[in-house]
Amino acid sequence: MNVLGLSFSDHEASAALVMDGKLVSAIARERVTRIKRDGIRWGGCRLDLSPAIQYCLETNGLTLDDIGLIVWSHTDHLSADEVYKQLATEGGLDICSRPMLPIPHHFAHACGAYYSSPFRGEVAVMIVDGAGGPFGAMMKNCTGPEPEKIARGGVPVQNLSPFEGDGSRELESFYRFDDKGGEVLRKVIGHWCGIGAVYGHASKLIFGDYLDAGKTMGLAPYGRPHATKLFFEETGPEEMRVFARSVSQERSALENRIEKWRQHTRASNYKSELLTDFTASLQWETEEALLEHARWLQKHTGLKRLCFSGGVALNCVANTRLAEETDFEEIFVPPCPGDDGISIGCALYGASLNGAVQPVTSPSYLGRDYSHDRQAIEGLGLARCFENDDVYEIVAQEIANGAVVAWYEGGAEMGPRALGHRSFLADPRRVDLRERLNHEIKRREGFRPFAPVVLEEAVAEYFVESNPSYFMSFVAEVREPKRAIIPAITHVDGSARYQVLREQDNPSLFKLIRAFEQITGIPMLLNTSFNRAGEPLVETPVDAARCVVDSTADYLVVNHIPYRNAATGGLWHSTTAHAKAH
Ligand SMILES: [Fe+2]
Repeated sequence: MNVLGLSFSDHEASAALVMDGKLVSAIARERVTRIKRDGIRWGGCRLDLSPAIQYCLETNGLTLDDIGLIVWSHTDHLSADEVYKQLATEGGLDICSRPMLPIPHHFAHACGAYYSSPFRGEVAVMIVDGAGGPFGAMMKNCTGPEPEKIARGGVPVQNLSPFEGDGSRELESFYRFDDKGGEVLRKVIGHWCGIGAVYGHASKLIFGDYLDAGKTMGLAPYGRPHATKLFFEETGPEEMRVFARSVSQERSALENRIEKWRQHTRASNYKSELLTDFTASLQWETEEALLEHARWLQKHTGLKRLCFSGGVALNCVANTRLAEETDFEEIFVPPCPGDDGISIGCALYGASLNGAVQPVTSPSYLGRDYSHDRQAIEGLGLARCFENDDVYEIVAQEIANGAVVAWYEGGAEMGPRALGHRSFLADPRRVDLRERLNHEIKRREGFRPFAPVVLEEAVAEYFVESNPSYFMSFVAEVREPKRAIIPAITHVDGSARYQVLREQDNPSLFKLIRAFEQITGIPMLLNTSFNRAGEPLVETPVDAARCVVDSTADYLVVNHIPYRNAATGGLWHSTTAHAKAH
């Protein structure tokens, strides 16, 4: 059976397709519409997910008639019938002509994490995000094992905002999964006051956007946490603690000062102690709260493997502490723990109802593979180059010479992290390139760090690793003697948000890094997402070419075919005779 999963998220709407138990495609609507964080707006464009659905169907040669089941999840109070009524009056596809099944938001996160993990058998699953679905609406409108078990009683539901009634949303959820499915163990609900919401609120205060939590995490290592707790009040019974947004005067006073900073300073001097210490406190308290939750789950289940998802699982620093400071021996964080991954969870849950889910070998490269037209690329200002050279050797040489290379290959990554199919690559030894990448190419804040992609066999030589990081979900300490060698990917606290590369995951990138190692002795590259600030990751070869021209990167390599950016001359720093000859 073919199952479509839909995420009706207001900021990360997406669709995913599972064919006969195999996850074959997934795409966030932003990648198709080119509108960053394109989601469902209840009053405006409503629920129309046609661009993402068509993408999945066309990529696999299907039509809507070939879909046996649509599993979906949204985060509003609308009943399933109201959703179907709206869908029927909107443009696009008549998806209500197919069997439809609504499931809870956090359960969809949990299914996405469990079924796309390498784990089978019993696994603990923890979900933490800004806010999931409204709890009351979930109990009324959703189906599946979670609302059924809660309705039967015996599942602790801790409400941080008991006076908000139906306004209380899912904040933190805990599950046990095995080959038969998932069972909810405990839920924390409330009104925008949980761990993820507090982090989002602080991010909005500093950067102007609730969803800029990644910037907050990047700023935190520049500061020191305050001596007293600012952000969370810890309550609940001793054996089952909860963390609600603090109403302390100290926090309010600091927030007022930051508000004034925003009004007067605008986007400069992020490294002011006011901000860095504020974010360091937030990060530390968030980590402590997550540790408490994870320890409860481990103790309660006795299990040794954890899947962690929901938007807060993008916090790779916190994830690393979960790996280091709990009794879980293995932790899996999917590459798209945010709401874009909801569609994957929905589709895999639907598949699990109809037989076994096939192992997900690559939960990341789920986009469509495009052929490309040389003339279209050249028409945008790029020139085909190095036609007679080995592409890996010559591109590695150019990177070693100081070039920034836009590397485009196959289907795009699902999730916010570039993992080598849509990446800007550069020399990790060159700290000047970090400046160039932040200011000129990506056009983003100067304090933001860059990450390495490193060959698996070399990880131990360069990093102190606590949990393998195949999707940039964890950080590792860069070994002290190596920090001066690879400063462009070493953050201010000596850490790196690294991606471990196995040859089977991406043989081409593996070959390129191997060629770079042969030239420089360094088995890694700086890797950052192939987009500019405020834009989604590039999707098509034409998107890629436009981005290279606008960003002044030196080269674009599309499916192993190199093009020089004519505007920069292609060789920003190159001094080799070979390069000059081209
Ligand atoms: Fe979520």
